[in-house]
Amino acid sequence: MSENSPKLRAALDGIPTYKPGKPAAAGGPAAYKLSSNENPYPPLPGVLESATRAAGAFNRYPDMACTGLMNELSERFEVPLGHLATGTGSVGVAQQLVQATSGPGDEVVYAWRSFEAYPIITQVSGATSVQVPLDRDEVHDLDAMAAAITDRTRLVFVCNPNNPTGTVVRRAELERFLDRVPSDVLVVLDEAYKEFIRDERVPDGIEIYRDRPNVCVLRTFSKAYGLAGLRVGFAVAHEPVAAALRKTAVPFGVSQLAQEAAVASLRSEDALRERVEALVAERTRVREALLAQGWTVPESQANFVWMRLGDRTQDFAAACERAGVIVRPYGDEGVRTTIGEVEANDLFLRAAEEFRKAL
Ligand SMILES: Cc1ncc(COP(=O)(O)O)c(C=O)c1O
Repeated sequence: MSENSPKLRAALDGIPTYKPGKPAAAGGPAAYKLSSNENPYPPLPGVLESATRAAGAFNRYPDMACTGLMNELSERFEVPLGHLATGTGSVGVAQQLVQATSGPGDEVVYAWRSFEAYPIITQVSGATSVQVPLDRDEVHDLDAMAAAITDRTRLVFVCNPNNPTGTVVRRAELERFLDRVPSDVLVVLDEAYKEFIRDERVPDGIEIYRDRPNVCVLRTFSKAYGLAGLRVGFAVAHEPVAAALRKTAVPFGVSQLAQEAAVASLRSEDALRERVEALVAERTRVREALLAQGWTVPESQANFVWMRLGDRTQDFAAACERAGVIVRPYGDEGVRTTIGEVEANDLFLRAAEEFRKAL
């Protein structure tokens, strides 16, 4: 490095770069991208029209307060406007939460493996990650997480369902955990995949937060609602936390396109339900087929499935790519595969079957 290069914060040294899911190669054999937990469906009815209308005015800054969207969310979830904050995707809101709570000397606790943005946003804030291994069933070990909380802990992420394993924590264990967390430590329930949950024992974070001032719920329009490219997510939290989120937000971060598309998506509930139902049915089909082939696959409550493949991880991902589907390998740990369109899922299952036979 030249002596004259600008001084950067030492906290940035060694930050892992966020790895987006690999795209399908243009013109190559791989046709389907099952590597980013995206929704395979086009925008919900009415969404494109709303977004196009908003696009006609993009010489103007967006409504910084996201008034229309906030009103819609407030009504939909029966929460006061002062308990809501929006951001550039829920990862943007998660980053704001870490910025608002944690700096050098502070600790952020989360399960591992979990969403790969957690270590990055923690380190960017200068705080220290405390990673608590998932249990043998690939589920958050909430007892170990509670035990990992010290007087330096400022924030705990609970990713429910967990990315990349799809596993969930249930009401009784979550309540027991929350009862153990000191009231001055913020617990963030990251519910990016909430709409795909079918296990009735999994609580709705928005019910949990109501009488717990140290709980914040994160939701997104990127997954079930299919607006990943527009970058809009939101948090539900009590006033002091929501107000801190408004302070740490990038001004005008959520575009008018995103705001209008999110409102139109919320008003397209029936179509949303139908699509999510179809994806959930595919999730069941894919998992059952994998189990029948002999793989171990934890039950997933999200729009993806997880296979802990160890040192076969990269070979498996390469075999899938040759078969026309891009999946998401994690080092020598395992592979996460998004549930996509039926044809894509079929290609994936065929690749998994061939791989299995060759073992
Ligand atoms: C658990 C979890 N939280 C948050 C996000 C961020 O989604 P977005 O920023 O698109 O809302 C993701 C995306 O993959 C995720 O898996």
